[in-house]
Amino acid sequence: MIYITGDIHGKIDRFFDCGLLDGKLTQEDTLIICGDFGFVWFDENNPMGLRRDNDELDKLSCKPYTILFIDGNHENHDMLSKYPETKRYGDAVHKIRDNIYHLERGKIYTIEGHTFFTFGGAYSIDKNIRQEHISWWSGELPSKEEYERGIRAIKDADYLVDYIITHTCPTELIKTFLHRIPDPHDGELTGFFDYLMYEVDFKRWFFGHWHTDNCYNFNLHGKEKSFRAMYFDAIPLDSSKEE
Ligand SMILES: [Fe+2]
Repeated sequence: MIYITGDIHGKIDRFFDCGLLDGKLTQEDTLIICGDFGFVWFDENNPMGLRRDNDELDKLSCKPYTILFIDGNHENHDMLSKYPETKRYGDAVHKIRDNIYHLERGKIYTIEGHTFFTFGGAYSIDKNIRQEHISWWSGELPSKEEYERGIRAIKDADYLVDYIITHTCPTELIKTFLHRIPDPHDGELTGFFDYLMYEVDFKRWFFGHWHTDNCYNFNLHGKEKSFRAMYFDAIPLDSSKEE
């Protein structure tokens, strides 16, 4: 079974808390994290060094289930892009450990028979208090190639996927449901998500970033569009009927 959860920020306790993830997932299961995984963080530029990352990823590699994540804004994007790519779920992923993989931007993966369009990244509003290559990386926002790849993938799929997984969400959701003013630095990305929201048929769209657990439904041109903001909840993919 596939489970979805939100931002982890490198907090290993989430994986060892019986109430959240531990004990709930078996070797048959896959956990998808909607960005800000945060365990690919320390590198040779950081005074803490690589050791801490390796220790924690090794602990996660002992989990019986598969861990998949899209990138959020709070990841070491430089380091993430250097992990080897391997083909899995129908397209390239970054392999972090035998049971841990990064789902890349603008790709459609088929996982347990469901199709997922994945597109990570977001703007860090606190970037001015962070240090480049230590706690902030410019790769947090997508490149032109990643947008083009995403548009191509969606067109090739005839604007139809089962699920969409992103870190932030469409501008319209930010204004209407999250009651925030969209940050203009993030506008290209959240505007791209507006385009997807209108043009793509999907069963449900999961996103993180906003640190809230909530369901939102939009009626667009007579079609219900279902969104799920993820943070601490770890829910089965097909739980939308119960929520
Ligand atoms: Fe976050």
